Formats: sequence, structure tokens, C-alpha cells
Amino acid sequence: MRVPVKFIGFVFWLFSLNCARCQAKQRSCRDISVENGFTQSNDEEIIYSCNPGYKPFTGGNWWDSVTCSKGSWSEEPRCIREEECGAFPSVHHGKLKQSLHDRGPAEVECDPGFISTQRFITCVRGTWEKPVCEVGVSCNIPPKVEYAFITSKPEELYAHGSSVTYKCRRSFLMKGENTVFCRNGTWDETPTCEEATCSLNTTVEDLKIMRVPNIEGSVKPGHKLRFSCNGQWLILKGQREITCQPNGEWSSPFPKCEEVMCVANLTINMRSDEQPAPEVSIRPGHTITLSCVGKGSELQGQSKITCLPNGEWNVPFPKCVGGKCGPPPQVDFADTTEMTKPEYNSGERVEYICFNKYTLVQDHPYSKYLTCEHGEWRGNIKCFKPCSVTVEEMDKRGIELRWGPLEKIFSPHEDRISFACQRGKDLTDSSISLIQYCNDGVMHLPECV
Ligand SMILES: *[C@@H]1O[C@H](CO)[C@@H](O)[C@H](O)[C@H]1NC(C)=O
Ligand SMILES: *[C@@H]1O[C@H](CO)[C@@H](O)[C@H](O)[C@H]1NC(C)=O
Ligand SMILES: *[C@@H]1O[C@H](CO)[C@@H](O)[C@H](O)[C@H]1NC(C)=O
Repeated sequence: MRVPVKFIGFVFWLFSLNCARCQAKQRSCRDISVENGFTQSNDEEIIYSCNPGYKPFTGGNWWDSVTCSKGSWSEEPRCIREEECGAFPSVHHGKLKQSLHDRGPAEVECDPGFISTQRFITCVRGTWEKPVCEVGVSCNIPPKVEYAFITSKPEELYAHGSSVTYKCRRSFLMKGENTVFCRNGTWDETPTCEEATCSLNTTVEDLKIMRVPNIEGSVKPGHKLRFSCNGQWLILKGQREITCQPNGEWSSPFPKCEEVMCVANLTINMRSDEQPAPEVSIRPGHTITLSCVGKGSELQGQSKITCLPNGEWNVPFPKCVGGKCGPPPQVDFADTTEMTKPEYNSGERVEYICFNKYTLVQDHPYSKYLTCEHGEWRGNIKCFKPCSVTVEEMDKRGIELRWGPLEKIFSPHEDRISFACQRGKDLTDSSISLIQYCNDGVMHLPECV
């Protein structure tokens, strides 16, 4: 049934009329009784008094009243025992602050410039010992601190509670609090300003330190240190010179002395008479002789090279060029497609094929070829491993293959296997899928219990 909107409006109007009449009644407060006391009440007011040994919480008089306003009483009438203290008294030039956490004693907080005779308000035999906030004694000019100034203009008097902030002149460091307060005529302990010095504290071995200017005593801002290394084959790593800064810190950390070495990686077709490893590292002053291996390979550059004191070679590092390659190298999980020869010319290449179920990586820098370049095999071959899953492993984890029972399965890289929970079992972790992919020999098996 549709009701005209006009009609609904009319009903609301009627209802509101009705309520205007009922409001006077709604405003009256509900009647309340007082524990350990007795009342006399009308709609607007309750007058109450307390039983012997009790008194009103509000304090002061032995009877009190509360008034009704907009449906609620101005406060709850309460009777407390005579020896208890009731509501807090008001404090001239201050207020009382009670921590809501510990319900401990209320603290007296005086207005600025005023000081309390006591820190907390105390209840003595049912009466609050009323704290007094009296005018705090002002302080005279704050004490002088050598090499310092105060960041505000001087005043004749400083009221109790006011503060000043000290600042040291440049290159001086402050010890103590920079802000001090006037407390009832006395200034807090003032800070001091001490000339900044940099610490000459170093544990770096072999480091030779020269002071600039070359004087004894503490190192002051502006002073410098110059470094060198004591050992013959040591080089300085870090700043050669550092400066003591106004804040007493060095401009950079102390440097270190490190041993100098000449290093190089030998190519596959190169040999050193000194060191068998492909990585060569020798000390300054030492010489090595390099030669090329493999038929037709020639050394380009000088065969004898010497390590200089700065860790560099005296001539450009030589190369072996134009050589023939020996048999191609062994590659993990792969074989060459053809029989290998004992010798290959520059430019010749061999093709590899991965073992059964292994997958050849084709993306750069991998391919299926290695190429002989000037006596060296170049290129990269990689075969991804397959995954294997056994029936025992699946049984242990409460799973089986979704499609058919197999003894043991091999699954190549990136291949997908669908599992299922064994009858009556559920997946333990629903975030692990029942469909898993093989990744270079690794497959995460789901688990059902
Ligand atoms: C403040 O100093 C005055 C004068 O020295 C002293 O009488 C008063 O007790 C002090 N007030 C407080 C709270 O220390
Ligand atoms: C030297 O430095 C070390 C660590 O940085 C420190 O423990 C030691 O107290 C310092 N000694 C001096 C005399 O500054
Ligand atoms: C030599 O090879 C190693 C390992 O490949 C590398 O870490 C090192 O930086 C190389 N050194 C030079 C001097 O090329």
C-alpha cells in the first residue's frame, strides 16, 4: 500500500506536538538514594545529610544539595567516612594534577612564577592539607660561563621557573646542560665550555703520522695530520691528510696501510713460470715470465713483466693470440655431439647436448656452442637438472600423482606435476599448490595429513 508523503509529514507534526508537552516530565531527574546518608528530594533538588560518622564527599559542610538540570543531577550525592578526604580543594595560583595511571597522590602545579610549599597534597585525618602556591623568588643575572654567551638578551630579573640557554663559542664544546632554570632565587648548575680537541688515538699499524703544525700537546681544531706508511710495500688507503674540526672530530677517518700486490688472471692458454694458478698475485719488485701454451699461439707483448711499487705492471699485460685450442672442456651434464679432435683452429666450434631429461639453457650468455678463439675456448653451456619424485617420498607426505600411479617419475626443468592428496587426507598448508613445477632439480612437494 502506498502512503502519501503529505500524510506521513502530518503524523510527524502531531507527534512533535505531543512531545513538547511531555518534555517537562522528561527533564526531571531519576530519584536516587545515598548510601550511608538520607535525602529529601523534589523534581529539581536533593538535599542530603549523612549518617553519624559520615560526611558529604564535597567537603566543607555536614549537609549538601545537588540540583537537577536537563535530566541529570549536578553531581552524585555521596557520603564518605569522616576520616576520609573528599573532593580536592581549589588552589590559588595553581591546580592539582592526578595521574590517571597509578592513582597516587595528586601533584600541585603552580602557575608560572609561583612555587608550591609542598609537591603533593596530603590528607590529614579527613582534611586536605591545602598547598599554597606562593610567588617564587626571582633570580639575578645568570652566572657567567667562560667562553660562552646566553642566547637571549640580558634581563634585570628572572622570574622563578624562567630559563636561559648557554652556547659556547666556536671550537669549544659544552659539558653539562645548555638550558638552566631559575628555581626560587637560585640558578641550576651551569654548564662549562671546553676547548675542543681531536683524539690522537690510533691503533693502525705501520701508519706514520706527522702533525701540522708540529707541536706537542692536544690537537686543536684546525690542526692537521699527515700520513705515510712505514713498510716498503705498503700503500696508503684513505686520506693522506686530515683536519681536526671545530666539533673535535676528524674530517675523515684515519687511513690504513695495505700491502701492495700486482694481480692478474691468466687466460687458459697462458702460463706463468712463477705461479701455477690462473690467478697471479706478486709483490712489487718481483718479475714473472709468461708463455703461451698450445700450437701456434704467440705471445703479444713482453714475456717478462715486473710489479711496480704502486701495484701496477711495468708494461701492459701480454696476451696469447692466434693459437690452436686443445680438446674442448668437460661440461656438467652435457656431452659434445661429435667425437672431439685433439686440436682446433681459431673460429672452429663444437656443439653440446645435455644428458637425457636435462634441459639446455639457451638464453644469453648461454648457448649450445663453445668456440675456439686464439687458443681459448669461449662460450657458456648450462644444463638445468631434472626433478625426480619417488613413491616413498610421496607416501611420506601423504600425496600421490593425480594422473595415474607410476613407480618413479622424472620431470624436466619447468615441467609441471599435478599431485593429489591420498584418500581421506587434506592439504596441511593451502598456500602450497598441488601443482608444482620443476626448477633446476628442485621441486617443492605439498603435504597432506
Ligand atoms: C623559596 O625561597 C624563600 C626565600 O629563600 C623561602 O623562604 C621559601 O621557603 C622557598 N620556597 C620553597 C618552596 O623552597
Ligand atoms: C681510544 O679509542 C678506543 C676505541 O675507539 C677507546 O676505547 C679508548 O678509550 C680511546 N683512548 C683514548 C685515550 O682516547
Ligand atoms: C680474477 O678473477 C676473479 C674471479 O673470477 C675476480 O674476482 C678478480 O677480480 C679477477 N682479477 C683481475 C685482476 O681481473
